[in-house]
Amino acid sequence: MRVIRTADYEEMSREALVFVMERLPHIRVLGLATGGTPLRLYEKLIEAVHAGETTMRHVHTVNLDEYVGLADSHPQSYHAFMKKKLFDPLNLTPEQTHLPSGTAEDPEEECRSYEKLIRSLGGIDLQMLGIGENGHIAFNEPGSAFDGRTSVVKLAPSTKKANARFFKGNEFVPDRAVTMGIGTILEAEEILLLASGERKAQAVRCMLEEEPAETCPASALQKHGRVTVIADEEALSLCR
Ligand code: F6R
Repeated sequence: MRVIRTADYEEMSREALVFVMERLPHIRVLGLATGGTPLRLYEKLIEAVHAGETTMRHVHTVNLDEYVGLADSHPQSYHAFMKKKLFDPLNLTPEQTHLPSGTAEDPEEECRSYEKLIRSLGGIDLQMLGIGENGHIAFNEPGSAFDGRTSVVKLAPSTKKANARFFKGNEFVPDRAVTMGIGTILEAEEILLLASGERKAQAVRCMLEEEPAETCPASALQKHGRVTVIADEEALSLCR
């Protein structure tokens, strides 16, 4: 895996923007992540599009995951997050932006149709990822199979705790999500993983330096030939 080391979160986001903008003209399907890590990149991407330096008009986006039980309109849903942080500011249409539904009547069918959708779009050209403190990618928690497809999963207690910061007071934090599987992610042509901060250092070390093992889902990325990790000093602080 290629590693680009940056001083801090701001530089990580700047490098990520350069990486994405270089590829955008050739990308048809861009895989996106939610969470805190890509936020600054999204802000910079919006600035670049508004300045006429790049465009997303030709791109379909597919997101990694959504909470089970949250309607698209729920403020903490990943649908709402993406709409607010990226899709609306870029005027991307609902026809070109895709996330799995968290409220499908038949969740298993929803998972199958999300896989079908990705295939019908021609597969993912570039998939962006963050990494969980426990090494998860998307919501594939430790123990997930490396060949897993989109499915409904139970969130690890540590993930629930980390994500509780996005929910108010004693608001219900969902404990299940629909997530792309590791097998689905590994089929992307190219992968970009972003990591920032000391909290991620252990997970980043496992991903880069341990033998691939299901205990660290991100270590599956070693099996892919085109992965770039852009990480800051703190996230890389436990690496050799
Ligand atoms: C988000 C996702 C998660 C996050 C990870 C890191 O769509 O799939 O794997 O990328 O939990 O989250 P942050 O960036 O908030 O630290």
